[in-house]
Amino acid sequence: MLESIEKLRKAFDEALAKVSDNDELEKLRVAFLGKKGAVTDSMKELKNMDNEARKEFGKEINVLKDNIDSAIRSFADKMMNAQIEKQIEQARKFDFTVPSSQPEGSLHPITLVQRRIEEIFKSMGFIIEDGIEIQTEYNNFEAVNIPKNHPARDMQDTYYLSNGQLLKTHTSAAQNYIMRKYGAPKKGEPPLKVLFPGRCFRNENIDACHENTFWQMEGMMIGEDISISNLIYFMKVLLSEVFERDVKVRLRPGFFPFVEPGFELDINCLICGGEGCPTCKNSGWLELLPCGMIHPNVLKMGGIDHDKYTGFAFGLGLTRLAMMKYEITDIRVLNSGNLKALKQFVS
Ligand code: PHE
Repeated sequence: MLESIEKLRKAFDEALAKVSDNDELEKLRVAFLGKKGAVTDSMKELKNMDNEARKEFGKEINVLKDNIDSAIRSFADKMMNAQIEKQIEQARKFDFTVPSSQPEGSLHPITLVQRRIEEIFKSMGFIIEDGIEIQTEYNNFEAVNIPKNHPARDMQDTYYLSNGQLLKTHTSAAQNYIMRKYGAPKKGEPPLKVLFPGRCFRNENIDACHENTFWQMEGMMIGEDISISNLIYFMKVLLSEVFERDVKVRLRPGFFPFVEPGFELDINCLICGGEGCPTCKNSGWLELLPCGMIHPNVLKMGGIDHDKYTGFAFGLGLTRLAMMKYEITDIRVLNSGNLKALKQFVS
């Protein structure tokens, strides 16, 4: 019986000597150690042996199995090391001083406006936070005062994952986390000011002004006497710095369960000058900056004393802003990867 083990060992050694790549190594592993492999087959013989033979054969076949396993592993390591050496060798030959024949890349229009707004807000004392894209229902809805079965959920239908989490529908999903992270300002400290940009997702029918993937930039300021005047001041600074020209705006009441009172700040469509076009759904106006005073329930859920503190929040449509700033008529261009279109924007 032990001879058969020796035969297997020899057969393996010979086969290993011929292996030249990972696929062949894997085939060899399966041929010997796989479910129907030669070693596994031999092990099935054990049950037909008497006690003495089983003990001896069992020991030897296990040794062979371990040997084959470690021989395969070290062979794989050797192959990997050889490959790395080869890559290092090639990298050494690479001359970094030769001018590239590749065309130079450029920043995406959304990145350009995002950076510009971050700069403006940083100079006014805002902290920049990064929101995650996969969120719990609680953070995305409940924590911003949108309980289960609230009709506001209809407008933000999104993509649910099999574990019950979802792709966030708005940057407001990070409000609760940020409130808990920083808390309300202590006595004598300046108000809490945070800006949190992020990619959002909704189940939309795609057309010139709707996408299922878009960017928002949310801002929040919380302190002892924050009022609507603070909100309007920051919105004005934002728009005049971004557009570097006068834009006509209008403020109208807007409903969002997480603000009270809530507003919609619209800008005059810069593509048609207010006459009406597909980008502004022929209304001449574009909803750009929904905002309002943070609802006391939301402060409370964020662990902030709503009797003592107030705050404002705004949810700037970054994608729309980029479209207005660069006069991009179709939102679909932005996610298209069309370099010819996207390379035109420089600052
Ligand atoms: N989260 C809201 C939306 O995406 C926008 C918003 C943010 C409104 C903050 C008010 C205050 O529709």
